[in-house]
Amino acid sequence: MSTLWGGRFQKPTAELVRQYHDSLPFDRRLYDEDISGSVAWAQGLVGAGVLTAVEAATIVAGLEQVRGEFAAGTFAFAPGDEDIHTAVERRLTEIVGAVGGKLHTGRSRNDQVATDFRLWVMKAIQALQSYLAELQQALVDSAAAHLHTPMPGYTHLQHAQPITWGHWALSHFWPLQRDQERWAQVAERTAVLPLGSAALAGSAFPVNRAALAEALGFTAVSQNSLDAVSDRDFAADFLYAAAMTGLHLSRLSEQLVLFASAEFGFVAVDDAYATGSSIMPQKKNPDTLELTRGKSGRLIGNLMGLLTTLKGLPSTYDKDLQEDKEPVFDAFDTLALALPVMAGLVATLQVRPERMAAQLEPGLLATDLADYLVRRGMPFRQAHHIVGTVVQLAEKKGVTLRELSEADLLAVSAELGKGATAVFDFTASLASRQLPGGTAPHALQHQLETARQLLTAYS
Ligand code: ARG
Repeated sequence: MSTLWGGRFQKPTAELVRQYHDSLPFDRRLYDEDISGSVAWAQGLVGAGVLTAVEAATIVAGLEQVRGEFAAGTFAFAPGDEDIHTAVERRLTEIVGAVGGKLHTGRSRNDQVATDFRLWVMKAIQALQSYLAELQQALVDSAAAHLHTPMPGYTHLQHAQPITWGHWALSHFWPLQRDQERWAQVAERTAVLPLGSAALAGSAFPVNRAALAEALGFTAVSQNSLDAVSDRDFAADFLYAAAMTGLHLSRLSEQLVLFASAEFGFVAVDDAYATGSSIMPQKKNPDTLELTRGKSGRLIGNLMGLLTTLKGLPSTYDKDLQEDKEPVFDAFDTLALALPVMAGLVATLQVRPERMAAQLEPGLLATDLADYLVRRGMPFRQAHHIVGTVVQLAEKKGVTLRELSEADLLAVSAELGKGATAVFDFTASLASRQLPGGTAPHALQHQLETARQLLTAYS
């Protein structure tokens, strides 16, 4: 079994140690990026006078053949392939002969792996952004379908003030929009080319790094080779963005689990997105949502794991850095499934306005009653206190606020005359919150249009 580095060794690596070091089981996912990086490097070596145009053409054709083998699933790994870089170079040399051995001139696996990984992350972010947009679209559609459907709004899970389903659904759109912005920022920070840094000190051959960057789709080149081979900030940024997206999915899930319960019944999860119980025949469990809520844990764990790996490392490459890829792959795989599943779940969610309407009780309008007194000139603090007394009275009598008589109200405050009961109107309450961001019809319409406009960037 041959290695890329065996020259100075008298003994082969112990079998277990070899297994311990092998990253091929996971970094084979980088084959496409590894080959693209090598194609660009071969062309760079022509500019540097290391390869002739003919040699480079031979190498590039060989690399494309290797790419074809991977794509067709016919690539055969050999026992000495410790990582994807070794496997590609080994196969290339089998195909093109000794000239393949020139490709690694002025390059190290240290700048190579950093380049490959960044390319992979840049592509992965594009995919995640479009999955995310699908979920955002589903929320926008649900909001639009029930934009003005009233429901109770909660704080501390207690009835607070009336809101609408549209307002609620859009409240989960905006966190995802912030995720979109975060992903775009991560993509921008990832698009910095490390290639040309070689092992640590920079390449000794005059390869044009700006041209390499351009050929590979990077927008900048790294400024310090020691930093460039060990900079995994982009991977940590990726995992933070993934953890935040997961956290937002978890919060949405948590709320929908609650809304899907018999006690609320505000929504029904479509049969295609729920499962049953092996013992209780009546059960329809919202466990797709529970699974999404649970997966946020592993996304946060991936971030914590990588940060911990990175925290003690000097600049330049150490093998600890090989631990960077699995958490990123896992985070991607998790979201690449969770996001489309959640998009489908929200798109098929059955919303039940009648169940929400049944929960609209006058207590939700207590603030409106206080606001009524304020409009008559009373300081808000005093109004708050008076309405609190009214609430107490209703509780003592076992009636709702609206069922209190005029005499009851007047006994609490002379200001609670005839007009006061007109306050018990949910439509008027909703309409009064018309500032931008509020739950009033006009404000909501504007919010919906803004959300739709933002989504056009991803279609
Ligand atoms: N498999 C390695 C990784 O994923 C590639 C870089 C190895 N470099 C080295 N000097 N051993 O990080």
